Order: sequence, then C-alpha cells, then structure tokens
Amino acid sequence: MSSSVKFFYGEDLPLEMHKVRVVQKLNVGTIDERLAAIKEAGYNTFLLKNKNIFLDMLTDSGVNAMSDLQVSAMLSADDSYAGSATFTKLEDKLRELFNTRYFLPAHQGRACEHLLAKTFLKRPGMVVGMNYHFTTARSHILLCDCFVEELVAEKGLAVTSDDPFKGDCDIDKLNDFFTRYPIENIGFFRVELGTNLIGGQPVSLGNLREVSAVCRQKGTPLVIDASLMADNLYFMKTREELCAGMSIREITAEICKCADIIYFSARKLGCARGGGICTDKKEFYDAIKTLVPIYEGFLTYGGMSVREMEAMTVGLDETMDFDMICQGPEFISHMVEKLLQINVPVITPAGGLGCHLDAMRFLPHIPQTEYPAGALGAAFYIASSVRGMERGTLSEERAPDGSEKLSDMELLRLAMPRRVFTLSQIYYTVDRIHWLYENRKLVGGLRFVEEPFMLRFFIGKLEPVSDWSQKLRDAFVSDFGSEM
Ligand code: F0G
Repeated sequence: MSSSVKFFYGEDLPLEMHKVRVVQKLNVGTIDERLAAIKEAGYNTFLLKNKNIFLDMLTDSGVNAMSDLQVSAMLSADDSYAGSATFTKLEDKLRELFNTRYFLPAHQGRACEHLLAKTFLKRPGMVVGMNYHFTTARSHILLCDCFVEELVAEKGLAVTSDDPFKGDCDIDKLNDFFTRYPIENIGFFRVELGTNLIGGQPVSLGNLREVSAVCRQKGTPLVIDASLMADNLYFMKTREELCAGMSIREITAEICKCADIIYFSARKLGCARGGGICTDKKEFYDAIKTLVPIYEGFLTYGGMSVREMEAMTVGLDETMDFDMICQGPEFISHMVEKLLQINVPVITPAGGLGCHLDAMRFLPHIPQTEYPAGALGAAFYIASSVRGMERGTLSEERAPDGSEKLSDMELLRLAMPRRVFTLSQIYYTVDRIHWLYENRKLVGGLRFVEEPFMLRFFIGKLEPVSDWSQKLRDAFVSDFGSEM
C-alpha cells in the first residue's frame, strides 16, 4: 500500500505521509441527543448541526485538510479587485499543469456548470451526453429545458465488480448517440472523472482517449469535469498499464490533451474553495468570458477570495505528489476491506471520494420509494454520530407527472475528506456499521414532509414511516447504555 514504506510484519496499513499540526475537538454525544437532532433535521443529514456530529463524512467538498504551505500562502494573497497577482499565479499554475492558455474563475464547481449550460445550450430540447450525471451538472441542464443522456458502460452500474474503471463510457453507445441526434442538437459531451454518484469510480485514460477521438471526429466539444481528478489520477497510476510509467504530472497532461474544456470544483481538486474553467480554445473562452462578471465576479477572482486562490495554487501543485493523492483512496480501500470481512454490502472495487454502502442490499426490506439510502444515513447517524450522505432516489428529481424516478443505485456515501480522519476513527466507523448491520431489520423507510422541486436532498425534510427510530434507539441502549 501507501507510498514507499513496506511493513515487516502483520497487516499492510495505509500510512499517513503527513503529521497533524492543528486539531479540532469533537464530541460523540448520547443516543438521545442524536435522536433529537435527526428528528429536528427532518431525517436529512444535510440539516444536522456540526455540534451534534462526531465524524463528518457528509462530503469531501471544502473540508479536506490543508497543508502548512497552503495556509501560509493564504497570508500573502494580493487583495485587488482587478489584476490581482494572486490570480496570475493561479492562472500560471493551471497553464503549467493543464497546458491550457485560458482560465475563467468561478465561485465553485456548480457555477462552472451554470456558465457552460448557459453558453452551450442555446435552445430548449438540446442534449448533453455524459458518462454519468452529477446532481448539480444535470440540474443546470434541466433548467435550460435541455436533457441528459448517460453513456456509462454497463459495468459501471454493477454494484459489485472487480472492474478497475467503472466510470468508462461505452464507445458503441457513444457512436450510436451521434447517429441519433443531429450534431446541432448536442450541446457538449461531459466526462466526469472519479464518477461521483456511482461510487467515486474512475475513468481510464484509454477510454478517455477513445471518447475524445469520437467527439473530435463528430465536432462536439468534450468537457471534462475534473473535480475528482486527484483520485482518478491515483487509479490511473496504480490500475492502468498505460499510465504505470508516467508521472502524475504526465498523466494530468495526457488527460487534458483529450479535453476541449476542463472545469473543476476547487473544494475538491486543490483542497481549497472555488472553481474554474480552463480551455485552450479562444472561441470557448470568449463565449463564456462575458458571463463571468455577470454571475460570478470580475475575471480575476470570479467570486473567490484571494486567500482561497493562493491555497488552490499550492494545492494543485501538491496534487501532483503521489504521497498526497494516495491517502484518500488507500484509506477508503482499507475501510472497504474491513467491511467486506464482516459481509457488509459495499460498492466494489473501492473507489475514490468515500466508502459507499449499498443500501439496497443493506436494507432490502425498504422499497426505493421509501428511500433506503436516506433511511440508512439517518439510522447510521443515530447509531454512531457519523454523518454520511444519501446518494439514491432522494437525490433524483421526480418525473413531470410527479412519479418517483428510482435511481440506479441506493448508496450511503461515507466521504473521506483527505488527511482529516485517523485510522482509529475509521475503525470506530466500521464497528458502528457492524452493529447497525446486525440490527438492520429494525430500520424502516422515510417519507417527505417538505419536498423541494429540485435538488430535494439538500433541504427536504422527512419523517420515518413508523416508530423505527425509537426501536433502534432502544436496541442501542440495551447494547451500549444510554450514555453513548
Ligand atoms: N462535479 C462533481 C464531480 C462534484 O463532485 C461536485 C460536487 C461538483 C461538480 C459541484 O461542485 O460543490 O463546488 O459546486 N460535489 C460535492 C459532493 C457537493 O459532496 O459530492 P461544487
């Protein structure tokens, strides 16, 4: 496993190649405090307050640990509205790493998605092809009265598999896609690295090259969502023969050669907060440029603070270090192995971003219309004070006739913010998952009390369909007492 250290005896453990220099105190709370907190949050982990959470595995977005060099760079930021030297530094770093001449800043990843949708989706009814959607990426397309078609290979939707690149596109489906839509009706093609909603599964460089060749031949811009590129780089380096002899920088350059546009959330890539769009094509830069001061901020900050831009420049550079990018995937893989040993259903192979529990097999008695992944998230919080995120039917939008769109997968994502948690905290999490798995029959479904029309998982409120949360609490108290 990790980096260059080999263990003499015993288990091969993921080893941290950093030390912790700033800490934050945490509390586990009691089972009754957690039950009250989740009730108040409408059984939606997004609406919990941090004071009631022990390990926050909601997301890795904007909560990765920064390095000492990132924090110190923040203090030297050049705070000018226009023409900031901090912006130039960031622009230069992106040019160096991505080989793209132009950079447009935005306040975060979804802002880039908004700008791209506004620029390329000129008429209602246009289509955007992609390996798999991300919630915000799709919402911006739908808000333009356009739609998404997903071309991920069938292997990507198999919950358990040993395929190393489940984020790959099906090239036959891609060719067929171009026969079914006139080219002027296709907005762009989007490939998401480290495919979020199917378990942080990577895309191979080989597949990316094929997709790029088809898109170039047909004349459709290939847009790469590089938000989860750090994990994807690790998997290309360790799982793909084509990349074994390349440095992380070289793999990055090869990825970027395939793209016409690269956008990213710097809340993930670069361990800061912000985002942006890179391209080497002047016509795309010019087309998007005018929207930036309207929606984001002037062209040299785009809604970001200069301090975050300084941290991002350093963070992007640090992403080229294998010791840095291996930490997340190796912790996740270790956690997945531990869960498999006790037969807990998880997505395999382990991906990036986090460990994904398969709620469909964890709670087979809950129908998808009662949100098994959401229920698992609420139940797991009650049992552990660990906060995860639902990635299933709750994260879908209803069809226009009001019927539920059942998602391909029902996942509880336990995100692994990079360099934040220790191995003993991971073992605590595994222990509580084990307890919940033994008591899984007690968990029931959820129904909406307040349901927003779009991205309802963020702020919707729900309630249990029965008194299951109380029964779960009683079982916990009989095993652990009421003080835990
Ligand atoms: N693309 C991907 C692949 C993402 O994972 C995210 C965010 C975005 C775009 C949007 O970026 O949050 O900066 O606006 N994912 C977060 C998550 C929200 O928790 O998975 P953003």
